[in-house]
Amino acid sequence: MQKKLRVGLIGAGGIAQSHMAGWEENQNAEVVAICDIKRKAREDTAERWGVAKNALFDDYEKMLEKVELDIVDICTPNAYHCAPALAGFAAGCHVLVEKPVAISADECREMINAGKQADRLLMVAQVLRFSREGQTLRRWVDAGLVGDIYWGHCSLLRPRGVPAWGEFIDAEASGGGPCYDLGVHIIDMALYLMDFPEPTSVSAATYLKLADKPSLMKHNPAKYTVPEDMAAGFIRFANGATLSVQTSWALNVTEAAARLNVILCGTEGGLQYSPPTLIREENGMLTNSTPQVPVEVPDNGIAAEIAAFVEAILQGRPSPVPGEQALITQRILDGIYASGRTGEEVEV
Ligand SMILES: NC(=O)c1ccc[n+]([C@@H]2O[C@H](COP(=O)([O-])OP(=O)(O)OC[C@H]3O[C@@H](n4cnc5c(N)ncnc54)[C@H](O)[C@@H]3O)[C@@H](O)[C@H]2O)c1
Repeated sequence: MQKKLRVGLIGAGGIAQSHMAGWEENQNAEVVAICDIKRKAREDTAERWGVAKNALFDDYEKMLEKVELDIVDICTPNAYHCAPALAGFAAGCHVLVEKPVAISADECREMINAGKQADRLLMVAQVLRFSREGQTLRRWVDAGLVGDIYWGHCSLLRPRGVPAWGEFIDAEASGGGPCYDLGVHIIDMALYLMDFPEPTSVSAATYLKLADKPSLMKHNPAKYTVPEDMAAGFIRFANGATLSVQTSWALNVTEAAARLNVILCGTEGGLQYSPPTLIREENGMLTNSTPQVPVEVPDNGIAAEIAAFVEAILQGRPSPVPGEQALITQRILDGIYASGRTGEEVEV
């Protein structure tokens, strides 16, 4: 039997628990070491998932030095993605990193280059791609039923949902607000279905209007240092396509209006994210199709994402969500913040 790939987890907080469940489901890999700067986080996670007490670290450099690993799985706040990824590559590991890949396009480029130099895979945990909706829509695109996508809209709005947990609202640790937390998911989904066209410019507005009035929210407004609680952007691509994006943690809208929405319109058909719908002209009628028996995907998207990463490593295939794609998303996110600051359209 093939030896299991040995995984070191870096950052044992909230999302790491879902990663641990994903690793536990995987027959070809196992988490053998955990690093977290917080003792309770690393000890509780080790106990919950059965990782040996003598394989716990407060410093990832020490972990990489002491434990032989094939993979590092990085679940730290956004500002602490790049450094452990570079260290992981330097130690000869493949790297799975949570979204957003980093807090700047330059960091992302460094991560891509380090992966190339080490000849190891970099995968970004864009979990929506592994959802039933994502897989269904991608199947229609692959079948040529959508044609050239020339216009899209994506939104994910929380009416009242500033994170009161983790370090999401602290600019130093997270680098950005809802754009980095939520916008990254919908932009990635739209670009994944559009085959990652080259972005040329972004025009955006960022607003900070409600986060200092925390009625119905539990965060501490004094700790709120990210630049926005809502952002709206318009992106142009070199192929002439355009995409609008809206995202928020706090906005005066209904839950119904706030739902994750991705609409993509092509020359042959259109796509809507949920329920996954294909819109096409058929027999002189504009017709909506939704699958009766949907694409089969695992319930735990993170387990599917981990399975795809492990399979790519074992079969010598490219990363299922490569750094180069995340770089395009990161350039757009950086563009939204830059345009939000200046009030001008910016090149990306
Ligand atoms: N895919 C998703 O839907 C999803 C959901 C939530 C979070 N995330 C992403 O996951 C990442 C972590 O988010 P979270 O909610 O789990 O945060 P969290 O605050 O719950 O956990 C982060 C952990 O990292 C630890 N940490 C911080 N710096 C460290 C370092 N240098 N070395 C080792 N450990 C360190 C912290 O002590 C903490 O335990 C973020 O990038 C976030 O965007 C993704």
